[in-house]
Amino acid sequence: MNIQHIDRNEAAKQMAVEFVEKAKARDLTVGIIGLGYVGLPLAEAFINSGMRVLGYDVDEEKVAAIKSAKTYIKHIPDERLADMNDTGRMDATADPSRLQDADAILMCVPTPLNIHREPDISYVEQTTETIAQYLRKGQIVILESTTYPGTSEEVVRPILEKSGLKAGVDFAVAYSPEREDPGNPDFNTNTIPKVVGADSKHERDMAEALYAAITTPFVVPNMKTAEAVKLTENIFRLVNIALVNELKVVFQGMDIDVWDVIEGAKSKPFGYMAFYPGPGLGGHCIPIDPFYLTWKARAHRQSTRFIELAGDVVMAMPRLVIETVAHGLSERLKKSIAGSRILICGLAYKKNVDDMRESPSLHLIEMLQERGAKVDFYDPHIPQVPETRDHPEFSGMKSIELTRGNLAAYDAVLISTDHDNVDYQMIVDAAPLIVDTRNALADFADSHGEKILKA
Ligand SMILES: NC(=O)c1ccc[n+]([C@@H]2O[C@H](COP(=O)([O-])OP(=O)(O)OC[C@H]3O[C@@H](n4cnc5c(N)ncnc54)[C@H](O)[C@@H]3O)[C@@H](O)[C@H]2O)c1
Repeated sequence: MNIQHIDRNEAAKQMAVEFVEKAKARDLTVGIIGLGYVGLPLAEAFINSGMRVLGYDVDEEKVAAIKSAKTYIKHIPDERLADMNDTGRMDATADPSRLQDADAILMCVPTPLNIHREPDISYVEQTTETIAQYLRKGQIVILESTTYPGTSEEVVRPILEKSGLKAGVDFAVAYSPEREDPGNPDFNTNTIPKVVGADSKHERDMAEALYAAITTPFVVPNMKTAEAVKLTENIFRLVNIALVNELKVVFQGMDIDVWDVIEGAKSKPFGYMAFYPGPGLGGHCIPIDPFYLTWKARAHRQSTRFIELAGDVVMAMPRLVIETVAHGLSERLKKSIAGSRILICGLAYKKNVDDMRESPSLHLIEMLQERGAKVDFYDPHIPQVPETRDHPEFSGMKSIELTRGNLAAYDAVLISTDHDNVDYQMIVDAAPLIVDTRNALADFADSHGEKILKA
């Protein structure tokens, strides 16, 4: 080992020791870049741990909303933002130069697919360029956005090193994927263990000490393993969702209800995990993340047939749902989709949340409109459609009010999200035909079975 190497190792060790001590004493400022569905709960968790938080977002409206405790994420209400502000340890800014004040910088920016369904890591690149401008010795930079294995090593670290500082010696880099499950009352940031990976022991120690303040860290050997863990979790979901959707169609042909089958299978206490069918794939993760791996695998001359097949199976679901609507209208009302009035019940991609990014409901509306239907929607969590990347044409569309009078004006109601706070009794009483993709009307099968079609 030469002298320069020994010096570097000593510098790295010193950096880690100081950081870990400060983490244990909760004497750190945690910079969080991107104050969305992931960044905001993370900010709250660090505030609750006793640390200082500096939130940074390019969206000045979000910064102003936090400062005035006006929420923009339903499951983090105003009072919780006010509590964060009341500690005097929460700050939010749209000024990137303030990132110099942070000891740890966590990136929680979007990682969507582009129009060619390839990874769009431009947000990660831009954010990293911004951090590099203000990077100082002793900081740890951690990517939290979901991405393909190699992003932190091949993209993030080299951009940061353009600052002239050396990763692992002057500053640290790590990757820690987010496992936020919005709307799930059983788990929150503090109770979900967090996978952490970094490429040297000192960097791993720093990242582990940071996250130990808010949850139980699970340390893996390097950044690309941590990136692969996140994709594995979401690919597991995609494949199982595809399987249960395929089984739904197969069993339908045999006059077997897949929902009854799942309940039966769930009685096995080991070796089975329940997944549920639906109108298609939704949300910010499952329709997108698996294809980050598909893209990266191509560069390694590997194919991902299983993942792509699963994607194809689920992507076909909205069309099958539309066929069920067409069948129901024709059989029961002697009508066709063209000219019919159809109400989509539930716009969010899953129950009890207000997030409609990549929601299959949007595809259903689009397909019904293409076939000539007049389509409205009802969603108690989404009074008005915000701007979305994939369906800008729907922005501004308003939820109808759910009344018996309004319901009577529709030929069919298509339940695409099974929110709990919906008056399903009113729907089954007032609507002439209901297509249920979520088994939301299981309790009404005996009383109103003749107007309910499962899809
Ligand atoms: N939403 C989830 O449940 C969830 C769960 C696990 C992982 N993830 C992953 O976490 C990441 C973030 O997702 P999200 O749902 O929080 O997204 P989001 O769109 O809710 O929030 C992203 C935030 O980043 C901000 N932003 C964009 N570019 C920026 C920049 N250059 N500088 C500063 N801020 C910038 C946006 O204004 C926005 O407020 C994604 O990679 C996603 O795949 C999300």
